[in-house]
Amino acid sequence: MNLKIAVLAGDGIGPEVVLQAKKALHAIGVMFDHDFIFEEALVGAVAIDKTGTALPEQTLNLCLNTDAVLFGTVDNKDNQDTNLNSEKSPSQGVLKLRKELGLFANQRPIKTYSSLVPFSPLKREIIDGTDFIIFRELTGGIYFGDKTLNKDKTKATDLCQYTQEEISRITHLAFQAAQKRKKKVTLVDKANVLETSRLWRNVVQQISLDYPEVALQFLYVDNAAMQLVVNPKQFDILLTENLFGDILSDEASAITGTIGLLASASFGTTKALFEPLHGSFALAKDKNIANPIASIVSAAMLLEHFGLQTEANLVYQAVQKAIDYNVVTMDLNPGTNFGTHEVGTFISNFILNKDDLLYFNTNNVHIGQSTIV
Ligand code: IPM
Ligand code: MG
Repeated sequence: MNLKIAVLAGDGIGPEVVLQAKKALHAIGVMFDHDFIFEEALVGAVAIDKTGTALPEQTLNLCLNTDAVLFGTVDNKDNQDTNLNSEKSPSQGVLKLRKELGLFANQRPIKTYSSLVPFSPLKREIIDGTDFIIFRELTGGIYFGDKTLNKDKTKATDLCQYTQEEISRITHLAFQAAQKRKKKVTLVDKANVLETSRLWRNVVQQISLDYPEVALQFLYVDNAAMQLVVNPKQFDILLTENLFGDILSDEASAITGTIGLLASASFGTTKALFEPLHGSFALAKDKNIANPIASIVSAAMLLEHFGLQTEANLVYQAVQKAIDYNVVTMDLNPGTNFGTHEVGTFISNFILNKDDLLYFNTNNVHIGQSTIV
């Protein structure tokens, strides 16, 4: 398969983790005879510095003309004092990119790795075996509704608005995903208070009739926030609107114990974007300590999206091997000898089928010794 991939590495640790994801994809290309062509473009604070805007026209055009976007991270430290409508806010660049590419469905898989369960603040018996996906609506709701601020800056409003069509398109994707999994969709809303939530319920209920084998459950968002830490294993597909999805996905990331492993994919009708869930972690930039696994997992999600399931599974297997052998960065093993680059190399070498031949003595890896030979 030939794929042209736009690479928007962004700020902070973005470039170094995305580089590891590219290494994994390159290895997959070699092993399975695929041609992945990467084209880099600017986004975020680095784009503001160089071009004056967080999402330059050239970057947007590249994304519109490639098969997929591999995204890194952008800084958000200037948000506090930036006019939010300004072109100079990295977050606004992200929102504009989502809107322009029509990325209405965001998927955030939350899955525990058994050996990493101790990193979670939650008890093993509560979280071990957790495996669900958050389907977050990404281009509507309060994020994109009209905003007002009166002249003396004492009153502000944000409009939350949804149309039947906006709800319907992501709902179908959620039910289709549930069909292939544990066959359960939980709609999270605030239908006891919000009119938009009542519209969500009606539309989702109606669509559920097309998927009789999938169970539909409704949950108020306050209760859902509690259920996530009390009994996360009950979820399969958690479907929700933009703002609730933003909040719940950060909460859910704590279940796995580290945000360094979580990735996300955003889909539209024609475009798709893949990125790690974590932020730009500017303090770690260029120190070779950032965990590259989330970015590598986002590359695996890209492969899955193009139907390359065997290839994606190999990436997941390589990630699992790195964790099993304790070839991990310091967030998962404070005394580690491995950095961003070494973890990425281990994973790409595993894909290339030469993990224990060239770089690593796997007999020693598990005890965290310096094993690069
Ligand atoms: C996310 C982020 C963004 C959001 C910010 C950077 C605008 O928090 O992707 O979850 O709120 O959607
Ligand atoms: Mg968020």
